[in-house]
Amino acid sequence: MNAKVKITNRAGASFPVRRMNFNFENVPEYWMNGSAGLTHFMTALSALFPAGEQFFIDSVRAVRYHPAIKDNELLQKEISAFIGQEAMHTQEHVGFNASAQKYGHDVACLEQQTDKVIQGFRKTAAILFKPVGVTQEMIDLMGTTALEHFTATIASQLLINRHIQELMTDETMSTMWYWHAIEENEHKAVAYDVFEGVFGTGVKAYLARCGSLIAAMATLFVVQSYFVLRLLKQDNQLNLKALKDIYVYGYSPSKGIITGMGREMLAYFKPGFHPNHLDTVSLLANWKAKLGL
Ligand SMILES: [Fe+2]
Ligand SMILES: [Fe+2]
Repeated sequence: MNAKVKITNRAGASFPVRRMNFNFENVPEYWMNGSAGLTHFMTALSALFPAGEQFFIDSVRAVRYHPAIKDNELLQKEISAFIGQEAMHTQEHVGFNASAQKYGHDVACLEQQTDKVIQGFRKTAAILFKPVGVTQEMIDLMGTTALEHFTATIASQLLINRHIQELMTDETMSTMWYWHAIEENEHKAVAYDVFEGVFGTGVKAYLARCGSLIAAMATLFVVQSYFVLRLLKQDNQLNLKALKDIYVYGYSPSKGIITGMGREMLAYFKPGFHPNHLDTVSLLANWKAKLGL
């Protein structure tokens, strides 16, 4: 693989932090099966990560020393490893985004827009829900928890869906996405455990996390779709072939990675839900062995 893997920190957590240092120099412009539609679909996702993952880190950091969890040694170690993994993901996606920028795709602008959307959304939600006793910390953490459920679910689909895997024709890019997908599932319970530890499991916490999933998914769908269309249009590739590729491998009932997420996404609405109920242990073990991680 085109990366120098370095495990930087085990720190007693249940998962390590891996520094990957991918070299994106030789990644082709349309690295995903030569398809502009599929490549820009993934680039639009990648554009969300630098600001998105910084938001996840900040949200968890803001409450990690809350009295309810500050003495939970294992959770504190998991939080440190979670922050480490997300920081490494950001580093690699920034590297890939810069390489896409070199081909003239304006990903830097999309990264900035992602940050604006997140900041606008979290501040507006805090104002709207202040009268019912919801704090900025709670808004941020439930947004993070919802988006972490999304990332873990799309990640596990990526590791399961053979149609998508067949299209990941560039080795550097496929390894980056598989590595990220594995780690999203390794740390999928951390933000959730912090949320439950700090805000409990009562009716208010339940309604808050369910409501935040709906709001986060609606926003994510609109923003990511807008990014895809913008990348395609700027690239003069907004055509039927590109849209068909995105539909078949994103949204079609038989092959779509997004449609494949339905059951696991809905599991979040169960009152006793916990991310570890969705068992990905052997899936991850297989993939870690395959990638030599
Ligand atoms: Fe991540
Ligand atoms: Fe994550």
